[in-house]
Amino acid sequence: MILIIYGSKYGGTSLCVEALSQRFIDDEVHIRNLDEKDIDLKAYDTIIIGGPVFAGRLYQPITDFCLKHKPVLLEKKLGLFICGCAPDKFDEDQIKKAYDTQLQDHALVKVKLGFVVDPSKLNLFTRFIMKKITGKSGYQKEINNEAIEKIYQTITQ
Ligand SMILES: Cc1cc2nc3c(=O)[nH]c(=O)nc-3n(C[C@H](O)[C@H](O)[C@H](O)COP(=O)(O)O)c2cc1C
Repeated sequence: MILIIYGSKYGGTSLCVEALSQRFIDDEVHIRNLDEKDIDLKAYDTIIIGGPVFAGRLYQPITDFCLKHKPVLLEKKLGLFICGCAPDKFDEDQIKKAYDTQLQDHALVKVKLGFVVDPSKLNLFTRFIMKKITGKSGYQKEINNEAIEKIYQTITQ
């Protein structure tokens, strides 16, 4: 059984995770938001975990969760992901910075899943920053289907 655990500040990561889960047509996939209490990892042989990067750093609750559950995560088939709007050339660097080295070495797959920018959820200053970074001011949703395929192929092989 597969568990996808994600963290999200503005809600966009849930859309990326939903797209990922839909690829696992014949497998039983459960999805949990880190905000939920009592996430039971024992029942799963595969765990895919991730969330957004802000100012070059992984969303803190994910870092905390990974640290707390590191021994268990190291026993699972593990996939790691980030969400982010930075250009693809930064993916490797951002992923490297995001996760504990032991977890990275253990993970079968590490990818950027995509991103969502929803200006209606951002304050004026953050909206300004996001426009500077992405060059766009409206709602943006980008799902990385190649990354989804890579996770699917790796996890199910
Ligand atoms: C203030 C702010 C800073 C961000 N910094 C980065 C960044 O350093 N690198 C990156 O790839 N994406 C960055 N992003 C994009 C977010 O990671 C992206 O919008 C993500 O999908 C948000 O996830 P959430 O909606 O689940 O919180 C930033 C977004 C905001 C609002």
